[in-house]
Amino acid sequence: MQDKLILMIPGPTPVPETVLLAMSRHPIGHRSAEFQAIVKRTSAQLKWLHQTEGDVLAITGSGTAAMEAGIINVLSRGDKVLCGDNGKFGERWVKVARAYGLEVEVIRADWGQPLDPEAFRQALEADSGKEIRAVIVTHSETSTGVINDLETISRHAHAHGQALVVADCVTSLGACPVPVKAWGLDVVGSGSQKGYMMPPGLAFVAMSERAWEAHKRSDLPKFYLDLGKYRKSAAADSNPFTPPVTLYYALEAALEMMQKEGLEAIFERHARLQRATQAAMRAIGLPLYAAEGHGSPAITAVAPEGLDAEVLRKKVKERYDILLAGGQDHLKGKVFRIGHLGFVCDRDVLTAVAAIEATLQELGAARQPVGSGLAAAARELAA
Ligand SMILES: Cc1ncc(COP(=O)(O)O)c(C=O)c1O
Repeated sequence: MQDKLILMIPGPTPVPETVLLAMSRHPIGHRSAEFQAIVKRTSAQLKWLHQTEGDVLAITGSGTAAMEAGIINVLSRGDKVLCGDNGKFGERWVKVARAYGLEVEVIRADWGQPLDPEAFRQALEADSGKEIRAVIVTHSETSTGVINDLETISRHAHAHGQALVVADCVTSLGACPVPVKAWGLDVVGSGSQKGYMMPPGLAFVAMSERAWEAHKRSDLPKFYLDLGKYRKSAAADSNPFTPPVTLYYALEAALEMMQKEGLEAIFERHARLQRATQAAMRAIGLPLYAAEGHGSPAITAVAPEGLDAEVLRKKVKERYDILLAGGQDHLKGKVFRIGHLGFVCDRDVLTAVAAIEATLQELGAARQPVGSGLAAAARELAA
């Protein structure tokens, strides 16, 4: 049915009508006073979202642009970095760092398991020569639905003294607390198509004072993604290059909605949706993929043993116009992922759970009476 699609993927996420309508205005000149006022307002809103007084810069691009900018703005040729890898996006960090010739020591965990902060502590303590220049971590590992303990890992990096904390918060920002200042995060990357409730196209990088100090020394090649240029322009409420004006309209509207809801309420909503989704899957008899107690508030990965996850996912799309995410790489067919990130409410989770149960019945694969998942989700949502 036309226009009935419900996105339950971890990005792009649903966009509220208020945000869509904001984008329907004519683009204005990006050097105009009117646009400068938007940049000024959104800069302040971005700091609020990141819980920092430091710079949060917007660049045109997707989340990976923020990751790449994070690396090239604070590191130098041949620098050693400690990189967490417990999924697709941890793997991507390793690839970006290697692409720039950095010496990468990888701290691995199996997919579905969280990174062990203790492994970071040991590697950092063993680095008596203080060669490690950055600890690089994905906060919410979208491929597996695991949340990593960024706060503790950051504490270990600060105890080391030299290592910056560079974090991918693409699917954690706007879903759970990412207090950039309180956790001492130096570089934090995110993207508009996630917790921001916007279409894809804007990436964000928060930079601490330590990160700017490192920027002065950094000699990795950069031009378009040189954040120094963005900082200079931001001081004049402007951009170094033509920004996506329409997306700035969206940013302003979306951040205003977030401010009205309030940070605590946003985090509580995501936690509630996560609990309801998890309870529903358990009640249906579908195992969760992420290790117990380490699930991401943005996404729940489900491993329906004995059933092709792609068959289920495709059927849910075909019959109910609800898009779930599939498994990535070796998890294709083994896992499906339910996004509950951004502009998602209780009703969306109930709808998705009901559609999954109905589909299981249609496939002859229901392990529990249909309605068990819905009842479990409803109980959590009422708690
Ligand atoms: C954890 C994480 N990091 C980074 C990205 C960046 O990807 P993209 O460049 O497609 O926005 C994503 C997108 O899904 C993500 O989930």
